[in-house]
Amino acid sequence: MKYKACLFDLDGVLVDTAIYHFKAWRQLGLNFGYQLTEEQNEQLKGVSRVESLDRILAWAGVHASEEDKSKWLTEKNDHYLDLISSMNPNEILPGVSEFLDQLKQQGYLIALGSASKNAQIILEKTGLIKWFDAIIDGNHVSKSKPDPEVFLKGAQALGVAPEECIVFEDAQAGVEAAKKGGMKAIGIGEASVLFEADKVISTFINVKPDSLLTF
Ligand code: BG6
Ligand code: MG
Repeated sequence: MKYKACLFDLDGVLVDTAIYHFKAWRQLGLNFGYQLTEEQNEQLKGVSRVESLDRILAWAGVHASEEDKSKWLTEKNDHYLDLISSMNPNEILPGVSEFLDQLKQQGYLIALGSASKNAQIILEKTGLIKWFDAIIDGNHVSKSKPDPEVFLKGAQALGVAPEECIVFEDAQAGVEAAKKGGMKAIGIGEASVLFEADKVISTFINVKPDSLLTF
């Protein structure tokens, strides 16, 4: 087998938490009279919490004190935690469980490569955790995607080389991170947005590793 491991982003790939991030950021923006758009939110996918706030403040033209920033980061995350508090296995995106089952049966190693510091709690609430051999999240990295650190650490944790890894990503920044890390990237979403990916699929429904993981 040419490829030994599959590295998954979490938000927007395995579960649809992207919508919860959007809701929480949009609500937060109202503190300083700013209405975040869906197009802007697209650029926040895969980007860390701190950097997301910095970008929103820049778009809004707001110069905030460190104290305000820290208060807003807490406010956003508290709202987000509230939104995800009732997550359950039903929120695993369609086709994902079947796809992960097949990967396991075929001997692939599976790791998480997420920018989120809330990844563990989401994996536990949804039951996704049972498929993962390694979890690298926002608590383990110092550089945000598009830096490849999160995926390189994932490969290292699994004991495989970057060239043996395939990354699944819904974010432009994540696809870029995978490519910079020397890995194949499969985009989940629209090809027009994820044009740097090696392949793009819109959903995992009826997707078979045998036919997808051929490069
Ligand atoms: C990424 C999301 O997975 O995690 C981003 O795509 C988010 O939108 C980032 O900002 C950090 O998440 P958290 O849960 O640590 O705020
Ligand atoms: Mg994502």
